[in-house]
Amino acid sequence: MDSYTLPYTFSQRAQQLTSSTIREILKVTERPEVISFAGGLPAPGGFPVEEINAAFDRVLQQNGKAALQYGPTEGYTPLRQWVADDFKRRGADVSLDEVLIVSGSQQALDMLGKLFIDEGSKVLVEAPSYLGALQSFSLFGPEYASIPTDGGGLIPEQITDTLAAGARFLYALPNFQNPTGVSLNLARRQALVERCAALHLPIIEDDPYGELRYAGEPLPGLLALGRKVGATVVRLGTFSKVLAPGLRLGYIVAPRPIISKLVQIKQATDLHTATVSQMAVYETIKDGFLDRHLPTVRELYKRQCGYMLDAMEEHFPDTASWTRPEGGMFIWVDLPEHLDGSRLLDRAIERNVAFVPGAPFYAGMPKANTLRLSFVTVSEQRIREGIATLGELIRES
Ligand SMILES: Cc1ncc(COP(=O)(O)O)c(C=O)c1O
Repeated sequence: MDSYTLPYTFSQRAQQLTSSTIREILKVTERPEVISFAGGLPAPGGFPVEEINAAFDRVLQQNGKAALQYGPTEGYTPLRQWVADDFKRRGADVSLDEVLIVSGSQQALDMLGKLFIDEGSKVLVEAPSYLGALQSFSLFGPEYASIPTDGGGLIPEQITDTLAAGARFLYALPNFQNPTGVSLNLARRQALVERCAALHLPIIEDDPYGELRYAGEPLPGLLALGRKVGATVVRLGTFSKVLAPGLRLGYIVAPRPIISKLVQIKQATDLHTATVSQMAVYETIKDGFLDRHLPTVRELYKRQCGYMLDAMEEHFPDTASWTRPEGGMFIWVDLPEHLDGSRLLDRAIERNVAFVPGAPFYAGMPKANTLRLSFVTVSEQRIREGIATLGELIRES
């Protein structure tokens, strides 16, 4: 039924919502015969089910009444302290009152939209950027300005005075970006925080994948670099990719005035993040579990990424190029100029292979000859089959 025939009226905001391209594609990929590189789900093989089960048991047995009670909006104090200490370990001096626990970093994006964006406010994003962030921000009606990127991530020199004029924030994904898998190189990280400090432009640093590095050297985060030069950095982290996304647990690290406002916003949104999840996650990780667990996840992702890169090397034509990620879950493909990712998808689905075309990841002018491949949840054999089919389709086109 069209919305105008309904006996009630949705807000303008809701009327403008469209369902995401990815969700539409995922409907097709539910068919078991479809080899799907479209999903963005972490590999369930990496979920530490037993440890999380044991942690929930301990929490409920030893502290059940508190675990099932309402809690403070800021989050469970020992977990917030763990986050602050973890940053200290990595060279960023973060204190407890600069940490807010949220129900996944997706909630953080929604809250930051509420905090910073008025109708028509300018927001700077990478081209391409994380689709889920664009969806969250778009509810508040921003005007996007896109920053060009290349194999070294976003290009700080392109943040001209004109581009940045009046912008409320810059949204950046420095590690193994979703969708491209590209990382921002060190020189550009430094240049970015210096540029944003000079412009008084807050940076939102979204980093769900930083811990999933399986090649190359770790690079300092924008929060640590930014604090040295007086840049305002709001850093988003999540337990979705290092433990499990079903926990719906993430955090925001930001200067106190930003955290105070976000606490008010979160209170209005959901009072606080589930106490029992926070306590169980703290119980799971408090004795260094992640240091023991993450190497196995990294190894798994590295192997999966290798299967896909090898198959692409073998089956894709020279006219296509693609990223070689050092971590994370995604490979980004540049097709020959005349090819359109969406049209290729229609033909791929006829052959039972799926991926996400690149265009929806752009806030501005899309590059239609692009696509995103996720390699983490598909078996080696199906990766080879699916990539061989895609290679054929690209050659035929
Ligand atoms: C870049 C990025 N940010 C945020 C999220 C949301 O993660 P969560 O809400 O599970 O923490 C995702 C999920 O895939 C993501 O890729």
